[in-house]
Amino acid sequence: MIRIGVLTASDRSARGEREDRSGPLLAELALQLPGAVIVEQIVVSDDVPALQAVLRRWADDLQLDLVLTTGGTGFAPRDVTPEATLAVVDRLAPGFAEAMRAVSLQVTPHAMLSRAVAGIRGHTLIVNMPGSPRAVRENFAVIAPALPHAVQLLQDAPDAEAHHQFRGVQTA
Ligand code: MTE
Repeated sequence: MIRIGVLTASDRSARGEREDRSGPLLAELALQLPGAVIVEQIVVSDDVPALQAVLRRWADDLQLDLVLTTGGTGFAPRDVTPEATLAVVDRLAPGFAEAMRAVSLQVTPHAMLSRAVAGIRGHTLIVNMPGSPRAVRENFAVIAPALPHAVQLLQDAPDAEAHHQFRGVQTA
């Protein structure tokens, strides 16, 4: 099973001024992954503490396998999803953003404007995606083939405590 959270970062959608079309589309696409279950799907304003709080809760309390975010990756002053993500991850997973930008550049030079990042908190993989439905569709198609194996590796990994104990024994 792949337990997934979908987070839309958008001030306007959080205020109810614009319908969120990217989050539902991303959830629909993610459900095509084998064994996928959407555990939570929410819209959050472009606010670092608010975004961090959701990412932490989903990784630490709900222990989701995969968190997909859409929006807030561009150059506008309120585009802060990458900063919120970088603040909560333990390890970077740069290959996802590298692949998304590489493929997206074949479609539009504006792919260079996405500052999306990806990383791992505990056993949870967090991947940023740009905000438009078109970008969601194009970017999800790039990373989808690698997601099941990525999640499996994180599910199989020993937890952080066991890892620390192991290192302690090694260096003693
Ligand atoms: N990537 C793909 N594949 N398709 C797109 O249409 N839009 C770009 C870029 N990446 C786009 C894309 C644009 S116009 C911007 S501004 C950045 O993603 C950031 O988008 P965001 O601020 O909505 O996150």
